Amino acid sequence: MQVFESADTWAANFGGGPAKNWAMIPTMGALHQGHLSLIDAAQKKGYQTVVSIFVNPLQFNNSADLEKYPRHLDNDLKLLAGVGVDAVWTPNIETIYPENFKEITLDLGILDQIFEGFHRPGHFNGVVQVLNQLFSAIQPEAVFFGQKDLQQCLVVERLLQAYFPQIHYFRIPTLRAESGLALSSRNERLTSQGKETAAEIYSAMMMISNNLSTYATVQKSEIERLQTLGFEIEYLDWVSLPSMEMASFQAHKGGFTGRLGETAIVFAGSLEGVRLIDNLLIPSV
Ligand code: PAF
Repeated sequence: MQVFESADTWAANFGGGPAKNWAMIPTMGALHQGHLSLIDAAQKKGYQTVVSIFVNPLQFNNSADLEKYPRHLDNDLKLLAGVGVDAVWTPNIETIYPENFKEITLDLGILDQIFEGFHRPGHFNGVVQVLNQLFSAIQPEAVFFGQKDLQQCLVVERLLQAYFPQIHYFRIPTLRAESGLALSSRNERLTSQGKETAAEIYSAMMMISNNLSTYATVQKSEIERLQTLGFEIEYLDWVSLPSMEMASFQAHKGGFTGRLGETAIVFAGSLEGVRLIDNLLIPSV
């Protein structure tokens, strides 16, 4: 496994052009099985894999959150070597944001004003800027992202359409612990009791998705239940995809085509001071 810090090392291998048959998995480190499932998906499709590890300050609107973000480079590298990753890029801040760095513009519509966009102002712009720098330097043939960050996936889709239409994009389903808790780098900041309680996010989303005809009532009672368990809730809503506008049973059941389009239950909230997000896709029927 080749570990490199300078983008020039990579460019030297590919003459500064596209890295054919390479898939990139951008990460902020603190890797877990969820990240490894993205690598596995890329390998199964026959790609060579390059993982980037860079904690991007531009996407944190809260400096305490940035400081507390877990960093375990040695352990990350061991994990990556163990699953046969081909290359790891660990750029420093000057490489990603050099003095002459210029932001790109991307119209995210309402995506950067609702849900994560609303609760973390500037977050998606930070994600867009770093991904533009990462993709431009590596020029991968494909990129793999986790569905756990569903709204981020929608933002990435827009970035790719606008700036990198040649890159193949894959959204990989969320990996969960047996309890239902979605794997996340942030889980390590929860106590073991906290991890057990956090699994109730999944139960709440399941409860809502199984009772969409009485959505408003069930949503309210699930929010109250989670609050009683100690959660501070930011949102627990049912949305249409890809717009993330509020969904409603009537709108989807009837619909022009008579089909129920793809929707999702989306959640964000804090437990033990740790902010957690999750979602559950409800496929078209
Ligand atoms: O999902 C993440 O870990 C980050 O938002 C990403 C995509 C690596 C950009 O910094």
